[in-house]
Amino acid sequence: MAHARRPLIAGNWKMHKTVAQTRAFIAELLAAALPEEIDVVIAPPFTALEAAHDALGESPVFLGAQTMHEGAQGPFTGEISPVMLIELGVTYVILGHSERRLQFGESDASINNKVRSAIAHGITPVVAVGETEAEHAAGVARVRVVSQTVAAFAGVTAADAGRCVVAYEPIWAIGTGLVDSPEGANAVIGEIRACVAGLENARLLYGGSMKGENAAALMAQPNIDGGLVGGASLTVPGFLAIVEAARARANA
Ligand code: PGA
Repeated sequence: MAHARRPLIAGNWKMHKTVAQTRAFIAELLAAALPEEIDVVIAPPFTALEAAHDALGESPVFLGAQTMHEGAQGPFTGEISPVMLIELGVTYVILGHSERRLQFGESDASINNKVRSAIAHGITPVVAVGETEAEHAAGVARVRVVSQTVAAFAGVTAADAGRCVVAYEPIWAIGTGLVDSPEGANAVIGEIRACVAGLENARLLYGGSMKGENAAALMAQPNIDGGLVGGASLTVPGFLAIVEAARARANA
């Protein structure tokens, strides 16, 4: 029986790939037979979104942005609004990535504003939460992640929350090669599922050094519906290996 929550693999390119590199990646990706049973998202930098939209054409691959401002327009130098993203075919937006929280000062309150704005504009938020290495060592990962999730979804109805995506990304696992254990990630994601009404129906992802070699074991866990993938999403073979692992979950 197919899984009730459709698996989702989202590639977070971060500050990688020019327009030309984006076009080359998409041409190579679309030459492969992508599974119909799962959703695939790529999130290029803002500068490559238009080229990506054009190159994706009628393909089933969804386009994501890596952050956004909550306002429709205004005096916010350097920021990008949901209206601008929609014009470029963006249907998903990563919000609250730990790099945004830690290096660009994004607070729980500002992430909540962005989540509510994305929902209001019909863009699906991929809300990233996760604990630091010190919090992990201190045994407070679940408390930290639950508090980030509850804050991100303040004022969101259960029906809307159920259509959102949350990615659990332990910060100590991002870009380090240190992947969380499937059981450990599943347990934390189970807490996320239970802490906000509606998230029992949402797609909940794992992120942090997900690769072709570990993706199947992670997605064999009952709570893990897919992955938010950084480094391994930058090459088509690396990304496809994870997409194939998600196909197995869809058919499990
Ligand atoms: P990683 O990054 O896959 O390179 O660890 C994941 C992320 O930051 O979304």
